[in-house]
Amino acid sequence: MTPKERVIALFIVLAAAGSGGFIAAYFTGGSRLLEGVSLAGACAMFGAAALGWAFWIVPQEHVVDEVEGYPSQTIERMKQTNELTEVQHLVTRPVALVRLLAAALGVFGLALLVPPIRSLGTDPDETLFHTKWRKGDALTRIDGSFVRADQLNVNAVETVFPEHAIGDPMSVATLIRLRRGLLADAPDGYVVYSRLCTHAGCPVALYRKAAHELMCPCHQSTFNVLDDGAVVSGPADHALPRLPIVADAGGVLRATGDFPVPVGPGFWERP
Ligand code: FES
Repeated sequence: MTPKERVIALFIVLAAAGSGGFIAAYFTGGSRLLEGVSLAGACAMFGAAALGWAFWIVPQEHVVDEVEGYPSQTIERMKQTNELTEVQHLVTRPVALVRLLAAALGVFGLALLVPPIRSLGTDPDETLFHTKWRKGDALTRIDGSFVRADQLNVNAVETVFPEHAIGDPMSVATLIRLRRGLLADAPDGYVVYSRLCTHAGCPVALYRKAAHELMCPCHQSTFNVLDDGAVVSGPADHALPRLPIVADAGGVLRATGDFPVPVGPGFWERP
């Protein structure tokens, strides 16, 4: 290696070291400053190596090749061919530098891949598909009291949670008491819907009793309480999931299972 090639090699090694430093800093949860400095250093060293390569390795001579009229003389062509064959062995490539550069670029590529891969987070498993409602869970207010079937007046609304997951944002639901007989499968006129809007997840908090509709204040999606939460208007394109409930022998309202479909905005195709 010539002295100039050694300088370029040093730049490349420093670039690889900067990339490695970034990986180490990211893995150890180091400071942002260290990550930024190491990555910027790597880029700067690659830039310096590229400049050195351009000015010291790539030939700078200005060659003018006169084009003769065709056809060129056979004797001329043979002369040129012989000349090229003779000097072929003199043409060299900085193989070591090329290999070093490939390795450094590999480390740099790894440095770019580490943040997205390491920051993927944990597998959500089934948590996005289910809430904490289980069969037998009492419908529970935020203060921990159970809702009994004889407590609410017609058109009254309550926010309820599973008894063992009070405050859980995925499980929060709206309990509405309808007039008896309005909905055949509503025990004592009670229906429960997920409070998470299926458009973008805002709380569907407004009950329009005259129309029996739940309305989301964010973008005005409305859901039909008498039709399994079907969308009446607005940008939501999925019905509001309804929680199956019964009133037990003591009059306490209880879930008979989880919501039949995932709650909230859909990130998958629902039937
Ligand atoms: S979040 Fe409810 S309508 Fe947009």
